Amino acid sequence: MPQRHAPATGRNRTYILEVLQRVLPKTGTALETASGSGEHAVYFAPELAPLNWLPSDISAENLASINAWREEFPSGNLLPPISLDVSKSVWSVETNPPQQAITAIVNINMIHISPWNCCEGLLAGAERILEPGGILFLYGPFMRGGAHSAASNEAFDAHLKVQNPRWGLRNLESVVALAESHGLECIEVVDMPANNLSVIFEAG
Ligand SMILES: C[S@@+](CC[C@H](N)C(=O)[O-])C[C@H]1O[C@@H](n2cnc3c(N)ncnc32)[C@H](O)[C@@H]1O
Repeated sequence: MPQRHAPATGRNRTYILEVLQRVLPKTGTALETASGSGEHAVYFAPELAPLNWLPSDISAENLASINAWREEFPSGNLLPPISLDVSKSVWSVETNPPQQAITAIVNINMIHISPWNCCEGLLAGAERILEPGGILFLYGPFMRGGAHSAASNEAFDAHLKVQNPRWGLRNLESVVALAESHGLECIEVVDMPANNLSVIFEAG
C-alpha cells in the first residue's frame, strides 16, 4: 500500500493552512519540498487555488505515497509530484520548470530531521529560484537564542540526535542569518501550536 500516513499532518494542517492562505502569493506555483506522505499537499492544494501546488520529495516511497493520495483526492491545481533533493546544487525544477513560475517554496518539518547541509541547500535553492517578492515558508520546532522554548522540544531534539547526530532542532537566528546571506529577508515569525513556528521569508 503506497499511501503513507503521518499523524502529525492531521494535527497541524489547519493551523498551517491559515498562515499559508495569508502569506502565499495567489498565483503561480508553490513548490513544496520534502512533502513526505503527501497528506499536506492534498489538503492544502484545493484551499489555495488558483495557486498551483507542486509536491516533491527525495524518497521514492514518499513520491508513491503522494501519487496515491493525489489519485484519491485529485485537485485541478495539484501537480504530479517530482523527485527533488534540496541538498543538490541544481534542483530538478531548474532543469524542468513548471508551466507557471514558482512564486513560493514551502518546507514543513524537514530542517531538523535532516543534516544542516539540507537547510543550506534549501536556502540556496530558494535564492536561485524565487524572483523578488517570492515567499519561502518554513515550519517546525526551533531553538531561539540557543535555548529550547519547551521541555518537549528539548526531549525531541535529544531523540532526533540519537537517531542521527547530524539531526536536531535548529537555532532560528542561525537560519535567519543564513537566509539573509541568500537574499531572503525574514518578514514574519508566527507562534504555532505545540511549540512550533512558521517562519516566512521574502526574496529580495
Ligand atoms: C519529517 S518528514 C516531513 C514530511 C512532511 N513535510 C510532513 O510534514 O509530514 C521529513 C521529510 O524530509 C524529506 N527529506 C529529507 N532529506 C531531504 C532532501 N535532501 N531533499 C528533499 N527532501 C528531503 C524526507 O524524505 C521526509 O519526507
